[in-house]
Amino acid sequence: MITGIIHYMKDKIKRLQKLVRTGAKFSVLTAYDATIARVLDEQEIEVILVGDSLGMVVHGQDSTSLVTLAEMESHTIMVRRGVKSALLMSDIPMACGYDTRVAMESALCLMRAGADMVKFEADEAMLPTLRELSRQGLPFCAHIGLRPQQALKEGGYKIKGRDDAQRKTLLSLAKSAEDAGADMLLIECVVSDLAKEITDNVQIPVVGIGSGAGTDAQVLVIYDLLGLNPKPATFVRNFMQESSSIAEAVQLFRQETLNGNYPNSEQSYT
Ligand code: KIV
Repeated sequence: MITGIIHYMKDKIKRLQKLVRTGAKFSVLTAYDATIARVLDEQEIEVILVGDSLGMVVHGQDSTSLVTLAEMESHTIMVRRGVKSALLMSDIPMACGYDTRVAMESALCLMRAGADMVKFEADEAMLPTLRELSRQGLPFCAHIGLRPQQALKEGGYKIKGRDDAQRKTLLSLAKSAEDAGADMLLIECVVSDLAKEITDNVQIPVVGIGSGAGTDAQVLVIYDLLGLNPKPATFVRNFMQESSSIAEAVQLFRQETLNGNYPNSEQSYT
């Protein structure tokens, strides 16, 4: 039924996959409404993410855990209206990824709302579901490393890959997610040498956040980039401080990502 649309989306993803094979980088930013989405699209941000961070930065919650599929659907519809060229990715909210039927229905719901692909916070237990999504032709990104949806259980936001066991697990999970059919990986708050090793060991594009400059792309929450977070993480750079408009700050982020200047070593974890 939606096979034709999915072929078109897969083309967009394939273009990014070809781009990173030439050694080029690309930029990713979050958007939660049509106006910001339009600004990002006009600045040629390659991927726009409707992140479940919206629970915190738009709805004022303490974590992303309470975000609902209906909220993700609603913000995806808004963002879609502002996007002409970028690839639009939407987050699957907490607990919708383990049961294959729920995962499939959630992914289709967000794609009907306008997403080109969806993103799952993934672990080993989710691999059978990811395989099935891929078998059905649904484009998806696997988010590994720090998974904010697990922050309540883990007692906070912890840097990943600081011991050998965790390094092994993450490298193996990255490869398994690719084998399961992931079209993209996103790695969050992983020590930079491991993030680079993962990027070098998979063929699909790897987007990083708080994971050093060795990945194929960087993503930031738009409000962090604009300096609106009163307690920014170490890896955040306030691009607004160096710019005279939101569009200029967004373009500066894009250029600094593309030329590998962002993040620098102080904005990365070892
Ligand atoms: O929800 C989100 O915004 C994310 C990040 C990676 C930026 O997943």
